[in-house]
Amino acid sequence: MEDIYLLAIESSCDDTSAAVLKNNELLSNVIASQAVHAQYGGVVPELASRAHQQNIIPVVTAALQDAHIDKSQLSAVAFTRGPGLLGSLLVGVSFAKAFAYALDIPLIEVDHLQGHILSHFIKKDTPAPKFPFLCLCVSGGHTQILKVNDFFNMEVIGTTIDDAAGEAFDKIAKILGLPYPGGPYVDKLAKDGNPDTFRFSKANIPGYNYSFSGLKTSFLYFLRDRLAEDEHFIEHHLNDLCASAQKAIIDSLTKKLILAAKHLNIKEIAIAGGVSANHGLQEELLRLAKQYGWHVHIPTLKLSTDNAAMIGIAGYYKFLRHDFCGIDAIPYTNSQH
Ligand code: KG4
Ligand code: ZN
Repeated sequence: MEDIYLLAIESSCDDTSAAVLKNNELLSNVIASQAVHAQYGGVVPELASRAHQQNIIPVVTAALQDAHIDKSQLSAVAFTRGPGLLGSLLVGVSFAKAFAYALDIPLIEVDHLQGHILSHFIKKDTPAPKFPFLCLCVSGGHTQILKVNDFFNMEVIGTTIDDAAGEAFDKIAKILGLPYPGGPYVDKLAKDGNPDTFRFSKANIPGYNYSFSGLKTSFLYFLRDRLAEDEHFIEHHLNDLCASAQKAIIDSLTKKLILAAKHLNIKEIAIAGGVSANHGLQEELLRLAKQYGWHVHIPTLKLSTDNAAMIGIAGYYKFLRHDFCGIDAIPYTNSQH
C-alpha cells in the first residue's frame, strides 16, 4: 500500500499545534503554547483565538519543514473539530478546510479526546495497548474512564460531575499563589514534600464517577484557618501542601480505576491527557501495575498535553476507513460522548 502522509492541526484551547505523520509514524510535532494567559490566571478565549491566528501559519510551516515534506506530498489534512473553545477551534478548522481544499485532498475531523486516547498508537518501541483497555483520560477539561473496545468504539463508564482533575490541580495552585496552569508547578513542588502531612476531604461518589469541587473547598477552608494562625503558613509548608493535595487527587483517580479494572476484569490500563504527565500519578500507576498485574501505558510528556500528533494518529486510522468529512464541518464545543 502507498504511504499516507498526514498533516494534523490542533487548536482547541491555548496550544497551536501541527504535526506530520507518515502512516502511524510521527515525523514532526510542533507546539506553540500561548504565554499571554498566565497573567490572567486562566485561558482568555478571545486572546487564545487571536494567538492561534498569529501562530497557525508559522506552526504548520515548521511542521512541514521538520518532517522534510512538501505540501504536495500530503494525502489528507486532519483537524480537531471539538470539544474546545469555539474561537480557538474555528482557527484550526478554517485553516484545515482551506488547506485541504486548495490541495484537493481529503479532510478528516477528529475528536480531541479520542486523539488523547489514540496517542498511544503512534509508532514507538514499546507495544501499544491491546483492546479492550481502560483509559483514564485526565485533562484541564475532562476526567473520564473509558472502556476502549476498538479505535473508534469507546464507552465512557465514569466521568466527573463537577471539576476536571486538571482544573483541581490548577485551582489548588491558584490558591497557593502559583502561576497558571498550575498542574506542573504542584507536581514539581510535591516531589520534595511529604504526601501524608495534611488530609483533605475526598468525595464519595457512586460508581466510577468523580467529584473534585469538595477537595478544592476543603483545601481553601483548611488554608484559611491555618493562615489566621500563621500568615507564612503557605511558604513554610508549600512542598507538603502540594504533595498532600496531589495525593488526594491521585487517590481519587486511582480508586475508581481499580474498581473498574476489577469489575470489568481488564488489566490493560492507559492514561492520557495533560494530567497524565503528573509524576505522582505515573508512579502510583506503576505501583498498582505490580500489585494487580496490570500492563500500564503512559504517554511521553509531549504526547500527554495538547498536541497535533495525537490528532494525526486518530486521523490516520480514520483515513484507513475512508472516514472523511465535508468542507461544511463546523466545530463543536461540548463533549460528544
Ligand atoms: O490535555 P491538556 O494539555 O489540555 C486540555 O485538553 O485540557 O491538559 C491541561 C491540564 C492543565 O490543567 C494542567 O495543569 C494539567 O493538564 N497538567 C498537569 C501536569 N501537566 C499538565 N497536572 C498535573 N501534573 C502535571 N505534571
Ligand atoms: Zn487535551
